[in-house]
Amino acid sequence: MARTVWDSTVGKKTVMAVSGLIMLLYLVVHMIGNLKIFFGPGEFNHYAHWLRTVGEPFMHYEWTLWVIRVVLLAAVVAHAVSAYQLSRRDIKARPRTYVHRKPRAGYATRTMRWGGVILGLFIVWHILDLTTGTVHSGGFETGKPYQNVVDTFSTWYGNAVYIVAMLALGLHIRHGFWSAAQTLGAGSRARDRALKTVANVLALLLTAGFIAVPVGVMTGVVS
Ligand code: HEM
Repeated sequence: MARTVWDSTVGKKTVMAVSGLIMLLYLVVHMIGNLKIFFGPGEFNHYAHWLRTVGEPFMHYEWTLWVIRVVLLAAVVAHAVSAYQLSRRDIKARPRTYVHRKPRAGYATRTMRWGGVILGLFIVWHILDLTTGTVHSGGFETGKPYQNVVDTFSTWYGNAVYIVAMLALGLHIRHGFWSAAQTLGAGSRARDRALKTVANVLALLLTAGFIAVPVGVMTGVVS
C-alpha cells in the first residue's frame, strides 16, 4: 500500500507538500527565535540554552533538540528525493519536438530546482558555520551563539551567503506553499487569490525576518 502511494506521482507530491510544511513550521519558529538577538547576548544565549533543556526532567539534556533534528533530516531527505524523482519523470514525459530538442522547463520549475539546490548547499554551510563551527570565521564557541552570529555577519562573504540564501528561500516558499496547497486539495477558484496572498505574505515575512539579523549586525544595531 505505502509502496503504491510512493510510486505514484500524487504520492510523491504529497510527500513533498507535507515535508515542506514541516520545514516551513520549523522556519517560522527559527526566524522568531533569531529575532531575540535584538534583545542582547543574555537573552539570545539563554534561549539557545533553553533549546537544549526543554522537556526536562522527562527528557534528558538535548533529547528534544535531537528529536527535532531527526524529524528535520527526514523531511529534508524526503523532500529532496521526491523532488529529484518527480523531475526525472517530468523530463522523461516531455514530448520531443521534430528537431529532437527537448522543450525547456518552465520558469517556476527552474526557479524551484535551482532554489532547492542553493538551499540544500546553504543548510550544509549553515550547520558547519553556526552549529559545529567548522567553517566559522571567528573563534567559534559552543553555547555562545550571540557572538558566533556577530562574527559570521562581520565578514562580507558571511553576509553574501546568508542574504542570497534568504532570497532563494523567499522565492521557494512563495511557490512551494502555493503548490503544497494545490496538492493537498486546498485550492479552489474562490480560495486561490487568498492562498496566493498567504504565500506572498509568508515568504516576505520569513525573508525579511531572517535578513534583519545580518542587517542588524552590519548596521551596528547588534554588536
Ligand atoms: C539569517 C538567517 C539565520 C540565522 C542568523 C540563523 C542562526 C542560527 C543559529 C545561531 C543556529 C545555532 C543555534 C544553536 O546552536 O543554539 C542555527 C541552527 C540551525 N539553523 Fe539557522 N539561522 C538562519 C537561517 C536559517 C535557515 C534559512 C535555515 C533553513 C533553511 C536554518 C536552519 C537551521 C538548522 C537546521 C539549524 C541546526 C539546528 C541544530 O541541529 O542544532 N537556519 N541557526
